[in-house]
Amino acid sequence: MTTDLYSPLSIKGLTLKNRIVMPPMCMYSARNQDGYSTDWHVMHYASRAIGGTGLIIIEMTNIEPDGRISNNCLGLWEDGQIEGLAKIVAACHTAGAKVAIQIAHAGRKATDAITPVSASAIPFDGASKTPRALSTAEVSDMVNKYAAAVKRAVKAGVDAIELHGAHGYLIHQFQSALTNKRTDRYGADKALFGTEVIQAVKQVMPTEMPLLFRISATEFDANGYRLAESLQLATAYQQAGVDVFHVSAGGESPTGPSATIGSDAGYQLGLAAAYKQALTTPVIAVGKLSNPQLANAAILNNQADMVAVGRALLRDPYWALNAADTLNKTIELPKQYVRAFPAATK
Ligand SMILES: Cc1cc2nc3c(=O)[nH]c(=O)nc-3n(C[C@H](O)[C@H](O)[C@H](O)COP(=O)(O)O)c2cc1C
Repeated sequence: MTTDLYSPLSIKGLTLKNRIVMPPMCMYSARNQDGYSTDWHVMHYASRAIGGTGLIIIEMTNIEPDGRISNNCLGLWEDGQIEGLAKIVAACHTAGAKVAIQIAHAGRKATDAITPVSASAIPFDGASKTPRALSTAEVSDMVNKYAAAVKRAVKAGVDAIELHGAHGYLIHQFQSALTNKRTDRYGADKALFGTEVIQAVKQVMPTEMPLLFRISATEFDANGYRLAESLQLATAYQQAGVDVFHVSAGGESPTGPSATIGSDAGYQLGLAAAYKQALTTPVIAVGKLSNPQLANAAILNNQADMVAVGRALLRDPYWALNAADTLNKTIELPKQYVRAFPAATK
């Protein structure tokens, strides 16, 4: 049978009903700036679950208060934050979606931190604070904070974990020569921090739970890494335990042309396809793939195993149901909504 956007997919112990992914998208709506989620998050994510999304990846959720982009971002640095996350997960499960969460540290992009931390003391741009370079001992401590946050996410009932290694946040800051000028072992081996984080979080995850890793496959900067080097990083990460790569790009360089990249449909799909060719792990493609035919073709043409649809899912929580209609696919609808879909009732 042909594998398309609506074919189920199993990765280790995780089975998805289709290949449509809601990528992590910050909502900047944490309660009282304390990193706790609210009922709003439950409604936001549950609507996308009712809307037929196979896998929902909860937005960038941070391992310490100064790891947030802003004080309105979510956190998992204390046990009290587990309960709210568990409510989101349970609501999505009730509506038939599986749930992952993106665990992160913003590093030098933590705009509300008094002094952000990073691999080296290099600000993002002229308007940004100069971060403090973490000591070697602090880097090891940071690895433990990722593991502690992941342990809390597992307690909350998530089906998978995603590490944020893209878009110029802390793991990316270590893996890029643009931001990592360290002279210790974390500078000699740009993949070392990411590798240690992967190994540490795997220790606290059930064996059958997949680990996703979001990576910027190229930095769009003349002095940054490109696809070939990112595949070397990814090979190390795969060996360390990554089960799925979520292939994005850019974010580290304020001077690169990234602002102009991304205007065309499927602009990152070639990067996902290159990952799929080079590695043995499944791949999520992302970036302007909201045209249903294009998203479906990415699977049919074996360029990706899953397709993430971001902004279009903010506009339309029922994107997955509507796209099935457009593609003339018969899928299981929420029974309460069946009469709204002509294809299902004709
Ligand atoms: C409001 C908003 C918030 C975002 N927050 C995150 C985030 O928390 N983590 C992340 O990796 N990417 C984040 N992104 C990027 C998206 O996950 C996605 O890669 C991007 O929107 C491109 O996909 P699209 O063209 O389908 O929207 C965000 C994007 C938007 C629009």
